[in-house]
Amino acid sequence: MARAAPLLAALTALLAAAAAGGDVPPGKIAVVGAGIGGSAVAHFLQQHFGPRVQIDVYEKGTVGGRLATISVNKQHYESGAASFHSLSLHMQDFVKLLGLRHRREVVGRSAIFGGEHFVLEETDWYLLNLFRLWWHYGISFLRLQMWVEEVMEKFMRIYKYQAHGYAFSGVEELLYSLGEATFVNMTQHSVAESLLQVGVTQRFIDDVVSAVLRASYGQSAAMPAFAGAMSLAGAQGSLWSVEGGNKLVCSGLLKLTKANVIHAAVTSVTLHSTEGKALYQVAYENEVGNSSEFYDIVVIATPLHLDNSSSNLTFAGFHPPIDHVQGSFQPTVISLVHGYLNSSYFGFPDPKLFPFANILTTDFPSFFCTLDNICPVNISASFRRKQPQEAAVWRVQSPKPLFRTQLKTLFRSYYSVQMAEWQAHPLYGSRPTFPRFALHDQLFYLNALEWAASSVEVMAVAAKNVALLAYNRWYQDLDKIDQKDLMHKVKTEL
Ligand SMILES: Cc1cc2nc3c(=O)[nH]c(=O)nc-3n(C[C@H](O)[C@H](O)[C@H](O)COP(=O)(O)OP(=O)(O)OC[C@H]3O[C@@H](n4cnc5c(N)ncnc54)[C@H](O)[C@@H]3O)c2cc1C
Ligand SMILES: *[C@@H]1O[C@H](CO)[C@@H](O)[C@H](O)[C@H]1NC(C)=O
Ligand SMILES: *[C@@H]1O[C@H](CO)[C@@H](O)[C@H](O)[C@H]1NC(C)=O
Ligand SMILES: *[C@@H]1O[C@H](CO)[C@@H](O)[C@H](O)[C@H]1NC(C)=O
Ligand SMILES: *[C@@H]1O[C@H](CO)[C@@H](O)[C@H](O)[C@H]1NC(C)=O
Ligand SMILES: *[C@@H]1O[C@H](CO)[C@@H](O)[C@H](O)[C@H]1NC(C)=O
Ligand SMILES: *[C@@H]1O[C@H](CO)[C@@H](O)[C@H](O)[C@H]1NC(C)=O
Repeated sequence: MARAAPLLAALTALLAAAAAGGDVPPGKIAVVGAGIGGSAVAHFLQQHFGPRVQIDVYEKGTVGGRLATISVNKQHYESGAASFHSLSLHMQDFVKLLGLRHRREVVGRSAIFGGEHFVLEETDWYLLNLFRLWWHYGISFLRLQMWVEEVMEKFMRIYKYQAHGYAFSGVEELLYSLGEATFVNMTQHSVAESLLQVGVTQRFIDDVVSAVLRASYGQSAAMPAFAGAMSLAGAQGSLWSVEGGNKLVCSGLLKLTKANVIHAAVTSVTLHSTEGKALYQVAYENEVGNSSEFYDIVVIATPLHLDNSSSNLTFAGFHPPIDHVQGSFQPTVISLVHGYLNSSYFGFPDPKLFPFANILTTDFPSFFCTLDNICPVNISASFRRKQPQEAAVWRVQSPKPLFRTQLKTLFRSYYSVQMAEWQAHPLYGSRPTFPRFALHDQLFYLNALEWAASSVEVMAVAAKNVALLAYNRWYQDLDKIDQKDLMHKVKTEL
């Protein structure tokens, strides 16, 4: 009897603490989706809650999600997200943490094709480029650069806020803390409007800005300024990708976290309450059948959009009910073509003289957005880019699957074509309200941020935010949620 007393006391203390909702860590956490968002949030959650919390990650397709590769002629190539801006700080951290490396750069020249001729060509000599841009477009180029830099500089504040443990429960609060009314306004006005206002000419927007937006989002300069600025930043800075494939970051993070990856499609999340504390029942389906588990915290790390919902997830038992997000995604097709480019189509009858590796388009040849001579994810030291007259692997991005006739236009002949069809980015329209990160006490929606801007690094930022939000909420640290004037606060905190 005497020996049981301390155990009993310990149990009582534990129960009391649990009742207070206080210092006991959560037992189990579910993450739905193993793309970069889900993998990163699993890692951050473990970082904050400690190694003893069990993290289950549900994935109905393949780990990596929109980070994926396809094999062509015995080599692997990126078929989803291809590259990241140098200032993608979370992604840079992951690569370091996992002992991965940046893939070696193999230089190639870019140009913008306007349907009949190239409207802009990159030359070998940087200064000459600037001179040409100046000659064609005057000061527009510099104004664009200043506009993008200002947005990026403000966006980078998020890393400081996150390092200090601050989180936001909605997209609007997050944007406001970074760029005040200007950022929120930039989600409600178009790229074109914003650029015209700072003195960029319509011609520069039509020739250059539109081509970059088409290449990154498959959308036009009518898309919102905030998402546009983030993708234009990508066109300016130096870009990088991961040796061996970008998706290695996802599998690496999940392995590092020792997350329990469950290959199943989550079908519903149902709220149960026990003594005032929320408990979430996650139901899932796989070849074995249907099953369910209970969790203290649930993170949805996949888009929840209504039409063509690729996730097919429903919520039950919530009052008020959790509505599905309205809106749809931009279909994007990536075709990896192993073959010979038809350089005549681009005005170069002699294929040996074709100088470009990356071709962007204005909306004139509307059946494709970009055409790139790509390198495999593993680049050996002896690797060299294929000459334009040789058979090479080309990556064509288009809004719809390419017809045979279209392929025959772009390529003299080809050995193989493989296509990946994606729901790539939100189709940005005029959206009065954003979805929120916090759907319920401990139920979170990571991809809410995709409705402001959609990129791998933005999803990593959302993952860190959601992990901090869950942590601050769990331990009732309300001073770290939705705080105003953070620039001032982080300056005075040491
Ligand atoms: C062709 C293409 C090119 C791109 N290029 C770039 C680029 O160059 N740079 C860049 O930064 N970004 C780029 N992006 C965008 C980038 O890929 C995405 O923003 C990012 O990868 C999204 O990650 P995520 O984890 O939020 O979502 P996803 O990667 O979509 O992950 C969600 C995961 O959840 C799973 N899932 C869905 N529903 C369920 C369910 N009910 N149960 C279980 N699992 C479920 C899915 O199978 C998927 O694996 C590109 C995207 C595409 C498609
Ligand atoms: C919002 O942006 C638009 C277009 O750039 C501009 O005309 C408007 O004055 C801005 N409003 C505010 C409140 O900043
Ligand atoms: C490709 O690179 C990755 C990461 O460096 C490595 O793990 C893998 O073995 C490489 N694969 C090949 C075929 O060289
Ligand atoms: C699993 O549940 C779904 C509904 O969510 C149902 O349609 C399906 O028949 C169930 N499958 C099995 C094997 O019970
Ligand atoms: C779903 O997507 C397909 C092609 O991507 C489209 O044809 C169809 O209309 C979409 N369905 C809805 C309900 O929007
Ligand atoms: C989603 O559910 C609908 C109807 O229940 C079904 O027809 C569709 O195939 C499902 N989609 C996916 C991607 O599972
Ligand atoms: C190549 O492009 C030219 C010019 O557009 C076109 O006439 C020709 O049919 C295309 N295809 C081949 C195989 O040359």
